[in-house]
Amino acid sequence: MESHLKQLKDKALEEIKKITSSEELKKIETKYLGRKGELTEALKKLKDLAVEEKPKMGQLANEIKLEVEGFLNKVKFEFQERTEEKAGHVLDITLPGIKKSVGHLHPITLIQQQVVEIFSKMGFLVWEGPEVESDYYNFKSLNIPESHPARDMQDTFYLKDHADWVMRTHTSNQQVWALEKYGAPLRAIFPGRVFRSEATDASHAAPFYQLEGLMVGKDISVANLIAVMRSLLKEVFKRDVKVRLRPGYFPFVEPGFELDMNCLICGGEGCKVCKFGGWVETMPCGLVHPQVLEYAGLDTKEYSGFAFGLGLTRLAMMKYGIDDVRLNFSDDLRFLEQF
Ligand code: DAH
Repeated sequence: MESHLKQLKDKALEEIKKITSSEELKKIETKYLGRKGELTEALKKLKDLAVEEKPKMGQLANEIKLEVEGFLNKVKFEFQERTEEKAGHVLDITLPGIKKSVGHLHPITLIQQQVVEIFSKMGFLVWEGPEVESDYYNFKSLNIPESHPARDMQDTFYLKDHADWVMRTHTSNQQVWALEKYGAPLRAIFPGRVFRSEATDASHAAPFYQLEGLMVGKDISVANLIAVMRSLLKEVFKRDVKVRLRPGYFPFVEPGFELDMNCLICGGEGCKVCKFGGWVETMPCGLVHPQVLEYAGLDTKEYSGFAFGLGLTRLAMMKYGIDDVRLNFSDDLRFLEQF
């Protein structure tokens, strides 16, 4: 048995060395290693050997099989390489690689990250709240009781079969949440997506992004509010931006303001984004209404604060000169690849 196996090996290796074509290679492979190949048959015979011979012969047979297989594979590989070379598939490691395109950030994400960084540096905590919110945190705790006409200002999506739950209409929903959780003094921002049943046009969309800010402490006044807003806009636009403050009504602030910035799309001349008025409502804001502080369990004699609701989508449009809000949700690569 031993000499038969060794002879078989020598014969096989000899024949493999002489192979000149891949057809021959296939033939030899079948001749020795195929289902009825000579080596396969020899291996099958191992079972007829005496028990004491089996381990030794078994090991030898396996080694021979591996050697023949290995040699065949080596020759096969060489053939393959030669065929590829003939076909012109030469590996040229100096050729430039195929660049994998990787994704990049959306303009609204970019602006959100930038604003978050600016506020973080000013010591504000960052907290993204839930998008589905109870009527209590979205409205009632913000001094908007059930029958209040202010509810009409926000075209709300209510959850089917859950009249008490809404898709949050603003990120102000986090105000009382945060004060309950962290107490005062507190500086916090709440970035996130909000939802309104809006008819879509160049500056309105049903889902959009806001960033709410809240600062509560002792002796917080409008002066603090204006200082923080100014630093923010200066950092975002890297220049002084013309702003104006005018009275605005929101049930959860008193006094309330609208902070508008000069439209950077048209330079104040008037365009569809600023509705031809030259100014864009960027940041409604005000001093936190005492009723809200009370809902949060704070002593209004001791604490006061300011809050603002930054329209992130609008800010991104101003910063990048986007003249139609629908582009943000369009999946149009010609638009997206510019960022
Ligand atoms: N939550 C308001 C809205 O979405 C915006 C707002 C107004 C937020 C005044 C504030 C604020 O914090 O003080 O319409």
